[in-house]
Amino acid sequence: MANPPLQDSAEVKVLMNSSSRVLITSALPYINGVKHLGNLVGSMLPADVYARFCRARGRDTLYICATDEHGTPAELAALEAGQSVADYCREQHEIQKNVGAGFELSWDYFGRSSSPQNHRLTQEFARALWANGHLEVRTTKQVFSRFEGRFLPDRYVVGTCPHCGYDRARGDQCENCTRVLDPVDLINPRSALSGSTEIEIRDSAHLFLKQSSFAEKIRAWIDTKKTEWPPLVTSIAYKWLDEGLQDRGITRDLAWGVPVPDDIAGGQLKGKVFYVWFDAPIEYIAATEEWADATGKGDVWRDWWTNKDVRYVEFMGKDNVPFHTVGFPCTLLGVNEKKNDPWRLVDQLKGFNYINYDGGKFSTSQKRGVFMDAALEILPADYWRYYLIANAPESSDSNFTWAHFAGVINKDLADVLGNFVNRVTKFCAARFDGIVPVEGEYGEDEQALIAALDAKIKTYTDYFEAMEFRKALGELRAIWVLGNEYLTKAAPWTSVKTDRAKAGASVRMGLNLVRLFAHLSWPVIPLAAAKIHEASGAPPAILPWPDQPMVQFLNGLTPGSVVNVPDVLFAKIEDTKIAEWEARFGGTP
Ligand code: MF3
Ligand code: ZN
Repeated sequence: MANPPLQDSAEVKVLMNSSSRVLITSALPYINGVKHLGNLVGSMLPADVYARFCRARGRDTLYICATDEHGTPAELAALEAGQSVADYCREQHEIQKNVGAGFELSWDYFGRSSSPQNHRLTQEFARALWANGHLEVRTTKQVFSRFEGRFLPDRYVVGTCPHCGYDRARGDQCENCTRVLDPVDLINPRSALSGSTEIEIRDSAHLFLKQSSFAEKIRAWIDTKKTEWPPLVTSIAYKWLDEGLQDRGITRDLAWGVPVPDDIAGGQLKGKVFYVWFDAPIEYIAATEEWADATGKGDVWRDWWTNKDVRYVEFMGKDNVPFHTVGFPCTLLGVNEKKNDPWRLVDQLKGFNYINYDGGKFSTSQKRGVFMDAALEILPADYWRYYLIANAPESSDSNFTWAHFAGVINKDLADVLGNFVNRVTKFCAARFDGIVPVEGEYGEDEQALIAALDAKIKTYTDYFEAMEFRKALGELRAIWVLGNEYLTKAAPWTSVKTDRAKAGASVRMGLNLVRLFAHLSWPVIPLAAAKIHEASGAPPAILPWPDQPMVQFLNGLTPGSVVNVPDVLFAKIEDTKIAEWEARFGGTP
């Protein structure tokens, strides 16, 4: 029989992932408003779970994110809010930072792509590309508004799509048929700012990154990732490569953004700024510098980005994959020429499909679906974190419905995990004075449980290492179920009447399982894990991964130490709530 394909083996990935320094980034959320659950589950949340897992395993972990603040979406949103772009971005950054904290996203730093660090680094990158001959000035046709006296790049112009006839297509892309557009291709163009049709086409000089010359190098690099990266990711990369890499305009006729320095192309680009997709990924690096500056770490940020012992992992939704497998790598390859300590390219790239809301799209304009701030208004972060990671859209798009959500929470969190912790601690309080029982020895049932747990925890760990989140959470649930089954069989409430030693051993095992569940659950549901852990002792900030054999771990609690019965850990979601939330988040038709 042939060997199974490598990419299906979680164990193979474990070997590749065992590096002790891990740099993690999640796609930078656009500044224009709080993100919805689909954005969260495709980037920031799995990155956080993985970062926590790495920290629990004792790795030196750095998780960096930032707001993506340039480009026409930022400017248009500021205009709508009646604020200057700078004020709008400052305010929205704080808002996103706070909802992120509410979701327990453990960023080491949450930066801003408009930071001085990113201005400097983006300009440095552009100078290097210019010096290495990868940039070219080209005269392009741009839409100019006579009414507003300015150019209208990208989304500043709307009109009819030349491909499908949709009459509200944006200059950069048609929302209806998803084709990428050039603003000058639109039929009946009008200004997105004023609706004015006083429009003409004017020449404007722009910088182009000669991506086409990197095609072979990029393909060779992607080839080395074929067995390691999810097929979703490599297939998107190959599709772009197969269609032929196009040279890419990296500047815009805008005022908000990173200015093109005068010492590039003899000052021909004076007054223009870099395109948002040029400076945004550079902010991954610049935000690491922001982190070092804010925490007094000096030049260490460079080491994170150049040291070969660091493993660099990226998280993003599938729409972002082309920019991270082709666009940004081209920039880095071009900059790295003649550089002694090259910037690291991504080692592991985890891409996600979309999550739909009740069979349709999440929509900001139609207020359809759940956004991060509203989610936290109605339920604690852990409920969302658990549901979203357990149902992460890994192999296909997934669909959020309130009934499914409530079913998962009520069963997995309330009935299986919460109930277990409650049963054990309450019984201990009632019959063993609320201390870890001293009496009794573990017997056959406990040995069988220990063996089963050793196996399950290994699989759980391997799936996490492989970043297979759905499968990992399937194992976590199965581990909780093992605990319940053990307790039901051991039935200390019965044995305590006739054999107090046996009941004592069962309760001691039960409490050790409570502690184990806290450790294993911490990356996913950190708030509940801390509470669960408190039931058996004081909670440290990080609950280390149980790397020792279960026979050791499950003897970890000191007999005689005090147990605290927690309050209700997870409240069940009632049907009345489901109806209320369906109505509230269904959108305005
Ligand atoms: N803001 C982009 C989006 O939400 C993602 C930018 S990722 C980066 O789709 F690499 F460019 F920063
Ligand atoms: Zn179209």
